Amino acid sequence: MNRLLETVSNISQFGMDFSPDFIIGIGGGSPIDAAKAASVLIFHKSTDTDLLFDNRGDTHITLFFVPTTAGSGSESTPSSILTVHTRKTKLSIKRRVYCEKAFINFRYTISMPYNITVSTAVDVLTHLVDEYMSAKSNIFVDKLVKIGLLGFSEILPMIQNEEFNECFREKIMILSSIAGIIIANTRTTLTHTMSYPLTYGKKITHGFACGLLAYEYLVFHKNKYKVDDIVSALGFANIVELKNFLKNSCPNIVCSEKEIYEYSNIVFEDKERLSMHPYEVSLIVL
Ligand SMILES: [Fe+2]
Repeated sequence: MNRLLETVSNISQFGMDFSPDFIIGIGGGSPIDAAKAASVLIFHKSTDTDLLFDNRGDTHITLFFVPTTAGSGSESTPSSILTVHTRKTKLSIKRRVYCEKAFINFRYTISMPYNITVSTAVDVLTHLVDEYMSAKSNIFVDKLVKIGLLGFSEILPMIQNEEFNECFREKIMILSSIAGIIIANTRTTLTHTMSYPLTYGKKITHGFACGLLAYEYLVFHKNKYKVDDIVSALGFANIVELKNFLKNSCPNIVCSEKEIYEYSNIVFEDKERLSMHPYEVSLIVL
């Protein structure tokens, strides 16, 4: 299932016909995020997706989730990210939607193919990066991120060696949910904000889009102390080793100057997300 606004509206139409008490979202981040948004619309007996982007409360029908990927962490966040064709990107709904219960079991992820396994693992890493570098980070967040990064350092060799055994699946599943819990406190920041138009425009997975941007984001970031912290917590000798890990894990994507300009402008339309970065960023047109 995709995460299009139209899909959410269709689910709501379907649900309104028999007034369900709850929704069970099964799958990766897309169906779970679509279920969250649909739960709001069904509660309000509406198919109007504009309702998702206002700030009139967080009411929704009950949700249960069964994640079958280990990356989005959506089962433990209140966020729902939807694809908006008119804006050529993905946007976060304004409503905060938590599930009643999530059935987190790594056995549901064992049949994930190689590309999805790596992409979702890279997504977990970039969640931890964004959380640590966020304007909303604090001591609680930083401590949890450190636990996440140390855990990720244990599975790094498994990703590099394509050793996706049960031990790997269990660890990345738990790390994904931990990173999701932290997102509930910080939201994500620029790596993710920049990834949305890239995913939309180049049709690459979310995790890979974030992974392609993470190194440049860290190099650009002014808080070098925190950047060094991330590199060393992951067990890398220097940031170039992190760069090489990301380069080897993600596909090579080429963007034209016109595309970069278009994607950058989309990023700068999302003022709320830009405010998650700890200092002002500006768009420089060369
Ligand atoms: Fe993500």
